[in-house]
Amino acid sequence: MRWLNLAAAWTAACAVRSVAFELDVNDKDSIKAGATLAADGMMHYYSGNLPGNIPGILPGPYYWWEVGAMFGGLMDYWWYTGNDTWNDIVMQGMLHQIGDDGMVMPKNQTTTEGNDDQAFWAIATMMATERGFPNPPSNKPQWLAVTQTVFNLQATRWDDANCNGGLRWQIFTWNNGYNYKNTVSNGCFFQLATRLARYTGNSTYEDWANKIWDWSFESGLISEDYRFYDGLDITSNCTVNHNQWSYNAGLYLAGSAFMYNITTGSEQAKWKKRVDGILWMAGVFFHPQQSDIMYEAICEPYPRGCNTDQKSFKAYFSRWLALTTQMAPYTAEIIMPKLKTSAVAALGTCVGGTDGVTCGLKWYKGDWGAWDGSYGVGEQMSVMEVAQSLLIPGMPAPFTADFGGNSTGDPAAGGGGDNPQLNAIVDLSRPTAGQKAGAAFATLTVLSMTGYMVYYMVT
Ligand SMILES: *[C@@H]1O[C@H](CO)[C@@H](O)[C@H](O)[C@H]1NC(C)=O
Ligand SMILES: *[C@@H]1O[C@H](CO)[C@@H](O)[C@H](O)[C@H]1NC(C)=O
Ligand SMILES: *[C@@H]1O[C@H](CO)[C@@H](O)[C@H](O)[C@H]1NC(C)=O
Ligand SMILES: *[C@@H]1O[C@H](CO)[C@@H](O)[C@H](O)[C@H]1NC(C)=O
Ligand SMILES: *[C@@H]1O[C@H](CO)[C@@H](O)[C@H](O)[C@H]1NC(C)=O
Ligand SMILES: *[C@@H]1O[C@H](CO)[C@@H](O)[C@H](O)[C@H]1NC(C)=O
Repeated sequence: MRWLNLAAAWTAACAVRSVAFELDVNDKDSIKAGATLAADGMMHYYSGNLPGNIPGILPGPYYWWEVGAMFGGLMDYWWYTGNDTWNDIVMQGMLHQIGDDGMVMPKNQTTTEGNDDQAFWAIATMMATERGFPNPPSNKPQWLAVTQTVFNLQATRWDDANCNGGLRWQIFTWNNGYNYKNTVSNGCFFQLATRLARYTGNSTYEDWANKIWDWSFESGLISEDYRFYDGLDITSNCTVNHNQWSYNAGLYLAGSAFMYNITTGSEQAKWKKRVDGILWMAGVFFHPQQSDIMYEAICEPYPRGCNTDQKSFKAYFSRWLALTTQMAPYTAEIIMPKLKTSAVAALGTCVGGTDGVTCGLKWYKGDWGAWDGSYGVGEQMSVMEVAQSLLIPGMPAPFTADFGGNSTGDPAAGGGGDNPQLNAIVDLSRPTAGQKAGAAFATLTVLSMTGYMVYYMVT
């Protein structure tokens, strides 16, 4: 009798541990519970709020930028679910790293901080501005002013002297990558420009958005068919590295949707064409066999795998796909089904670790309820963001200065962003081969074999 009971108890315990979270995509409470499950696991890694620790810092191997990215995800978590559990921790960490000068350039980070790193924190302050996240105390830098400070600082770093423009990856000459102009730095700068343009109505930001897009395209970082490559090297004739990452497509997609939203006539048609083109090509980030499931195509399927940073990219790609459905509502019918199937598969991996609810990395593997053994902040954040993104239908649009928003700005902070050398607008009216604008996602693979080999050689 006793033995039998033990056996039954053991079986029950195993059963509990192995049953994955069954997300009901039509039930808001189920979606919130799924996002919460992933968020709780993510925050097990964070202890910056505890005495003796530094607010806004994750322990290794996580770089400083990923905390800014994570705080942005948690702002969305609050906004989507209404759950403010993490808000004080987010506020504390944000303010500590932003610094009293509002520049988001903490002295401790001079060996790791590039333009993209700084921008991920500024994207979080922009989200706070647009979502009405609680304002900092009045003696601290305010969300909008910080966003403008970072924007203006980056505008002064625009470098026409090499490869005809663009931001370098690194801010400081002593860091590796100072000679590289990467797409994510320029994409973040682009998206900040588009969001500030909409929020403030100041056309200077719109001019910058055009200038950044145009350079990204002319330099070959954006292809004719809307692939987003990794970056270019100014010491080897501006040669482009052709790796494609989901977050770069996401950055330019949402930014283009913001521009589509605030323009009219032929300008709007120009941005719509870009939204449609990027969206179609974004199909490369959904697995060719599991066609509705998001994956980081260049690293997840291969033995070398994804590094710590790369494991978090699906979080931002999900975030910006969802945002696109607000700024260009006609895209919702294309985007939402992909987010739904991805979120179901994503939560299906959250059966791992010693807690039995640790989320994995490879959602596309097709064995729902199985964990691939990968774990970390990026894995948890990606599941949290893809899940909470399902709550976007019916949510209020991002605030603007005229509607809903009340964060205090400072357009001149950080250096003044005017640059008279705006490039001519590129004519993108030529139709792209094989493109069915707005109709579908591509079902291509992300790279040719050659591209894959290059990835292995350069990383
Ligand atoms: C709010 O979020 C916290 C942390 O993620 C979670 O533990 C808690 O259960 C959530 N509350 C509700 C009502 O969902
Ligand atoms: C920089 O490092 C010092 C020493 O560890 C710490 O006290 C301080 O809070 C850190 N500052 C930031 C902004 O992280
Ligand atoms: C600013 O907006 C937020 C979000 O709508 C609101 O909660 C807050 O009370 C507002 N603050 C002021 C000072 O108006
Ligand atoms: C540099 O690139 C340009 C444009 O692609 C090309 O015409 C030129 O031959 C290249 N120079 C070298 C040294 O590779
Ligand atoms: C711009 O965004 C708002 C808010 O989501 C939306 O109601 C409106 O339809 C969008 N404009 C266009 C042209 O799609
Ligand atoms: C518009 O933004 C630019 C760039 O930041 C700034 O220099 C200018 O003062 C702003 N104009 C207004 C009216 O706020």
